[in-house]
Amino acid sequence: MASSERRLSVSLIDVAAGRDAEFRMWATSFQAIVIRKDYGHAEIIRDEAYPNRFYAVRYWTDAAAAEQCHRDPEVQLLSGQLHEVARVTHLVNGVHRHNAAQPTLDDRRARIDADRRTGFDRRVKDHGRTEGNRRGKVDRRLGPRRLRERAGEVDLVGAARRAREHADAAYSHFKVGAALETGDGDVITGCNIENATYGLTICAERVAMFKAISEGHRVFTRIAIVADTDAPTPPCGACRQILWEFGGNLTIELANLTETKGTHQLKQLLPLPFDARLL
Ligand code: THU
Repeated sequence: MASSERRLSVSLIDVAAGRDAEFRMWATSFQAIVIRKDYGHAEIIRDEAYPNRFYAVRYWTDAAAAEQCHRDPEVQLLSGQLHEVARVTHLVNGVHRHNAAQPTLDDRRARIDADRRTGFDRRVKDHGRTEGNRRGKVDRRLGPRRLRERAGEVDLVGAARRAREHADAAYSHFKVGAALETGDGDVITGCNIENATYGLTICAERVAMFKAISEGHRVFTRIAIVADTDAPTPPCGACRQILWEFGGNLTIELANLTETKGTHQLKQLLPLPFDARLL
């Protein structure tokens, strides 16, 4: 096969604490299948900064081999096992080539199918800012920023608490902050913004997601939501829908000003979702 036809897929794999042995077994089986069935070869690379983070790099013989591998029942079974022991974020898609910044409905349908059912990759290119389009010193603080406190740790709840201070909740006086983590480890924040019509109010979570989308991000891992209440503040129905469509099965961390109040998966908060697969 000519080297120009080769394709690459990359996924970020965060292995749950105490599941390393199962992950190692998974990696060995996956690598063996890819070679045995002539799909190409796979490498599992440990991230030096994050103890439980790995990159699964698949070098496909060509796009058809990648597609075949994704459809392979044996691989799908393994993929299910992987999702039990790790959170998987698909970074580079070796098969689909489309402009993710302007997805057509078909693209979006494919993306949801892929994400929810077969674990396909989503990101097809780097959406970082281009040279000359970067934020200047003054407004840098308002936009996406890296908030790694220590290697391997993004203080997402802290970012949501800080974002909450910008909330404009003149009518409800209920201030909410949100912080969304992208596949690259960037953090995009949001706060609720109300107005005199009441109905045009927008929640912190949607502000964060729409900001992120408008800045070209397409891969998300977690969102933290903070309010000043004893009971946790989960996302409203409208936000669950938007988070699901653009972020998939996000991890949701709920907290107040002093403590965390629980972690959920969006899938559990939005069972039987309506999305582009059904159009
Ligand atoms: N709100 C959010 O921003 N996020 C939530 O998860 C729940 C509700 C906002 C909307 C409105 O400005 C205020 O909280 C009261 O509903």
